[in-house]
Amino acid sequence: MAHDRDRDESLHGGIADLDAVGNLLQLEPLARRVLPPEVFAYIAGGACDERTVADARASYDRLALRPRVLVDVARRDRATTVLGMPLANPFLVAPTAMHALVHRRAELATAAAAREAGSIMVLSTLSTTPVEAVAAAAGGALWFQLYVYRDRGATAELLARVQQAGARALVVTVDAPMLGLRERDRAHGVSLPPGFRAPNVRADGESPAEALGTYFASLVDPSLSWRDLAWLRAQTELPIVLKGVLRADDAARAVAEGVAGVVVSTHGGRQLDGAIATIDALPEIAEAVAERAAVLLDGGIRRGTDVIKALARGADAVLLGRPVLWGLALGGQRGVAKVFALLERELDVAMALCGCARLDDIDASLVR
Ligand SMILES: Cc1cc2nc3c(=O)[nH]c(=O)nc-3n(C[C@H](O)[C@H](O)[C@H](O)COP(=O)(O)O)c2cc1C
Repeated sequence: MAHDRDRDESLHGGIADLDAVGNLLQLEPLARRVLPPEVFAYIAGGACDERTVADARASYDRLALRPRVLVDVARRDRATTVLGMPLANPFLVAPTAMHALVHRRAELATAAAAREAGSIMVLSTLSTTPVEAVAAAAGGALWFQLYVYRDRGATAELLARVQQAGARALVVTVDAPMLGLRERDRAHGVSLPPGFRAPNVRADGESPAEALGTYFASLVDPSLSWRDLAWLRAQTELPIVLKGVLRADDAARAVAEGVAGVVVSTHGGRQLDGAIATIDALPEIAEAVAERAAVLLDGGIRRGTDVIKALARGADAVLLGRPVLWGLALGGQRGVAKVFALLERELDVAMALCGCARLDDIDASLVR
């Protein structure tokens, strides 16, 4: 049985009864019970006082919905396209590092679940499975998240691999010139697993240091600036999306520089603590972009109504970070599939109750 295999391959035992999970918010406390405390801390935590982590949820509670009545919602259509690629629902898998921390099949299980759900996985540079293998599991539904290395030669080699493997877009993370101060990580003594190697990092590269921050600093170029975008574009034919944009002026500049999209993101509150909640940053960014590029958003999306609020404020689609890792930890591929199924069901009901038969019906007037 697939279920048993998923559990067997779960590093920490998973849970027996995935069917009992009723919503995405229930995943975190369940995962806390099965994961080693330092792995849980690494995934759940954020920077410093974790104000931006907390605000990601609170910001959705501050917005009220204004549903329309007497609309024919007998048939609902949740499908959309982003960068010309089809999505069954307006959500993608956010890039998160090291899925092997929670499951033996790691990124392969996540990619297979995303593919089956008609979604797209954004694979982290710091994945524990090489991009080639994940691309095969994702069957074309793969984008790649890039950290630009200090070593531009290694970055160019990686970009060639990524394109060759069949990834369809490049998501360049721009909110991490250095790693945020993860105090919860320090308190729990979070370090890289023994023998850890990021297979997307050139094999003869630096050997990992103990702490993630040190490893990150040894690899990633803190001098990256707007000037480097032209260089990046010359290295790849893939559309480029900038992840971590929180201001209209940066979004406008990104569009002027020819990027295909932006992700409004605080990196899950793991970088600058005190950064504005993404749902609050979104309206000015959507206005600045003015349909000239894709606008995506992540951070704290846990409910179907959160997706509606994000689309109402101008996002084309949203990304899910931690819930996917919790699902993977609890039930491997089936656990991730459960995350998609739960959110899909919630979005479907929320659309009906808001009087929206199609995603295009979700407009700014729906929220206050
Ligand atoms: C454990 C973990 C690892 C992450 N690793 C990366 C990464 O390698 N690259 C990246 O751009 N963002 C990374 N992120 C940020 C996510 O892409 C995303 O912005 C964030 O998790 C969204 O918020 P949510 O977890 O509330 O859904 C990571 C987040 C988590 C929780």
